[in-house]
Amino acid sequence: MSGLQAIRYSRGKLEVLDQLRLPHEHHYDLVSTAEEAFDCIKSMRVRGAPAIAIVAALAHAVELQNGSCNATSGEETVSYIDSRLDYLFLSRPTAVDLGNAITSLKAVIREHSSEGKDGIVAAYIAAAEEIFRKDTETNLLIGEHGAKWLMANAPIKSADDKVSVLTHCNTGSLATSGHGTALGIIRSLFAGGDLRHAFCTETRPYNQGSRLTAFELVYEGIPATLITDSMAGALFATRKQESSIAAVIVGADRVVRNGDTANKIGTYALAVLARHHGIKFIVAAPTTSIDLQTETGSAIKIEQRKPEELTQITGAVVGADGKVDISRSERVAIAHQDVGVWNPAFDVTPAELIDAVVTEKGVVEKGPSGVFDFREIMPERWAAVVKS
Ligand code: MRU
Repeated sequence: MSGLQAIRYSRGKLEVLDQLRLPHEHHYDLVSTAEEAFDCIKSMRVRGAPAIAIVAALAHAVELQNGSCNATSGEETVSYIDSRLDYLFLSRPTAVDLGNAITSLKAVIREHSSEGKDGIVAAYIAAAEEIFRKDTETNLLIGEHGAKWLMANAPIKSADDKVSVLTHCNTGSLATSGHGTALGIIRSLFAGGDLRHAFCTETRPYNQGSRLTAFELVYEGIPATLITDSMAGALFATRKQESSIAAVIVGADRVVRNGDTANKIGTYALAVLARHHGIKFIVAAPTTSIDLQTETGSAIKIEQRKPEELTQITGAVVGADGKVDISRSERVAIAHQDVGVWNPAFDVTPAELIDAVVTEKGVVEKGPSGVFDFREIMPERWAAVVKS
């Protein structure tokens, strides 16, 4: 497994790789309180649905371990933990992993509510650590299931029976506890000798593709090419060996009950293009990214971000000799600063355009009714939420 780690944790200590400084600098921030985690998530020093949930859960574990809870009774301890989790919940709205993690952590502390403060705190810390540990395991399974499904269903393979794929945004080690979801499938394809070539989009405006995914692909030695978001249609229309795309593989911030999927802005456009070109469109999502409570994509709250993300950009300075000086970073304007800006961080891809949702529990395809049915892979959560 890759040595790239966005989150470093040992009991009482959490360090988070500052993704705003990548790919040029590797700097870990110490995150010791819920306030520091909130700021780290909001400012996108850590991002990606699973990583956001893990950092929030672990930051509160760290502050508890370091004695932040002044409660004396079990009841006060539960309400203290609830209030810290409710605060963290507000850091970013679209990804559902954070909400799902909070729901499960709240359930855990209630199960231990008769054990007094120490018992509740210990149970919380163990449960937060388990979320972190389990995520990598989940991703390895997603990688395995997704690679297998694609090799069985790919409409387009190269002469050597390999596939080329395109991915969007960043869904790798940096967005999770390790291996990644969509990028995890690409990794598994590569490890199995089935990947011909991986393309990644730049992912404007935040450039998670060029800053993070391109970095991870190069780091892993995976044959890869970077394109701008607007080049996807031209790429799909090209039917030359290595650029003959078999599938678009993306992650998810929230997959709702019918399969509609919120993911990084630009995902929807890729799905429309993929359908036009007969290319498979795969969503890789741990079950923690599935929201059974929300019926369709129209109810998903889409996060709006600052205009400066479009009108300004930060990067390492390139010297007159053409060399990148990683010690010098500059922020520059790339548009008129008074122009109006629309900057939704995510869009919703309708289930209709999605061929498969790959989870750690298996691959879900649409039934005859044309919608995804997650009942089989999540029977308990389904029974708890959906009235029959
Ligand atoms: O705004 P970001 O960078 O947090 O958005 C990330 C994405 O859209 C990812 O595709 C998604 O969270 C899945 S990460 C495994």
